[in-house]
Amino acid sequence: MSSAPGTLTRRALLAGVGAAGGAGAMFAAMGALGLAPDSQDRAFTPPQRSDFSLTGRGAAKVVVLGAGIAGLTCAYELGKAGYDCTVLEAADRVGGRNLTVRGGDRLTEFGGETQTAEFGPDVYFNAGPGRIAQWMVTMDYCRELGVPLEVFVNGNASAYVRTHAMDAPVRVRTARADMYGYIAELLAKAADAGALDRRLTGEDRERLTEFLRRFGDLGPDLSYRGSPRRGFTVYPGYGSGEPLAGPPPLGEVLAAGTGRALTADFGFEQAMPMFQPVGGMDAIVRALVREVGEERILTGAPVTGVRNLPDGVEVTYSGGPGGSGGAVRADYCVATLPPHLLARVPHNLGARVTAALRTPTPVAAGKLGLEYGRRWWETEDRIYGGITETDLDITHIWYPSHGYHGRTGLLVGYYNTGAEAELYGSLPHHERRARALTQGKKIHGEKYRAELRSSVSVAWHRRPHVEGGWAVWPSYGGAFTVLQQPAGRVHFAGDWLTHLVAWQAGAMESARKAVTALHQRVLAVS
Ligand code: ALA
Repeated sequence: MSSAPGTLTRRALLAGVGAAGGAGAMFAAMGALGLAPDSQDRAFTPPQRSDFSLTGRGAAKVVVLGAGIAGLTCAYELGKAGYDCTVLEAADRVGGRNLTVRGGDRLTEFGGETQTAEFGPDVYFNAGPGRIAQWMVTMDYCRELGVPLEVFVNGNASAYVRTHAMDAPVRVRTARADMYGYIAELLAKAADAGALDRRLTGEDRERLTEFLRRFGDLGPDLSYRGSPRRGFTVYPGYGSGEPLAGPPPLGEVLAAGTGRALTADFGFEQAMPMFQPVGGMDAIVRALVREVGEERILTGAPVTGVRNLPDGVEVTYSGGPGGSGGAVRADYCVATLPPHLLARVPHNLGARVTAALRTPTPVAAGKLGLEYGRRWWETEDRIYGGITETDLDITHIWYPSHGYHGRTGLLVGYYNTGAEAELYGSLPHHERRARALTQGKKIHGEKYRAELRSSVSVAWHRRPHVEGGWAVWPSYGGAFTVLQQPAGRVHFAGDWLTHLVAWQAGAMESARKAVTALHQRVLAVS
């Protein structure tokens, strides 16, 4: 295609940018033109052994604090260039909040109660992260590490919405049809009556009305009187089906408060399709450990001190392989513990660092796994994956996005944060379960309680070595910036140090930044 004289075609511009600035500059220019794929930090180049070949320098020794996703990603990326990494993990297992519970696993929280999962052989419970968005760097790591993925159903029109204001749950598709229908009617009629004439030209109004007719499935008079979109009591097939009764009047639809279900997957990090590793989220942890080397990771080794030395760093720990603790001397340290825990570790990094680490606030979060011997949500409710949204204290019920039509399955009976998570977390497990079953019964009836086979709950704020679902910043201000810089030879990383708090992608992005900064330092040392 030819272009007008004097205009630069996009192709010519990109060719020029690419020639002058290389691939990175070309990607940036493509992004500015709206052409680049949506993704996180494409600019990352992992350290490589060949980075040292011309300099005569060698990879350094690095001690990594924490074997969660951030710590393991650091060790993995540094390992590509031959760095000698030791990872210290306080818990007796790796993975941090990436926790997949299977039959036989034991969970202990502060307060002393230990739960043992009694799940059957193919049943698992992602008690921490459970979903990955397509644009997240987590997808790239799954590809690189050979972790197979499958769709995680984050939004399902067949799931329910149930609020205090409702006598009975309604399907998301019904709530959506009614809310969209009435909104479209109100807006279309307002526009038609000229109420929006200060904002709309005549042509705008026609176009808006045309859209609203589709959006709300409106009649020729711009009224919403219901729609097949609401669903049926008997779906069409050989016969024409039996539509649901309704819709309720506008006032009732508004009073039901179904907005939470209709907007749950609007977020850029929640939009469908999302993904999960086949067989459990901990497949990512296993793959990272395989690459890092198990022998480099000391579990059951809580850090007791971090000290910058004139020519290195020393980290002390208790427990460890011999049980009597020890010390690791290294050239550099990457500290990935949750900030509220790192703040308690004695160190010589200065009061400014301690104050910065104390700035983000840990958030309570809880999840309950409910195992059933029959997948009644599929056979009876016709729900295959997805989430029921509620304003009850359980907040959500998640249906499994795998194992369809299998013999057994596991629902997430609550996933709550803040006050609701504190409330459930303060109870012993059997009371958490009883409370959640009472709530879930309001959606699924007696089978929800009667057919339960086993259950496990986790209150992240009560889990040793974690003490929070995640940590949030009051603002992305000075303290955040302080910790984005190393303190002497100690670098920091973790989802908490990003704008993607509570996502594995945040941990990975942050690890990449720390690795890049550390590697540049090592290459620059004369
Ligand atoms: N990443 C967290 C979630 O998926 C917040 O709910």
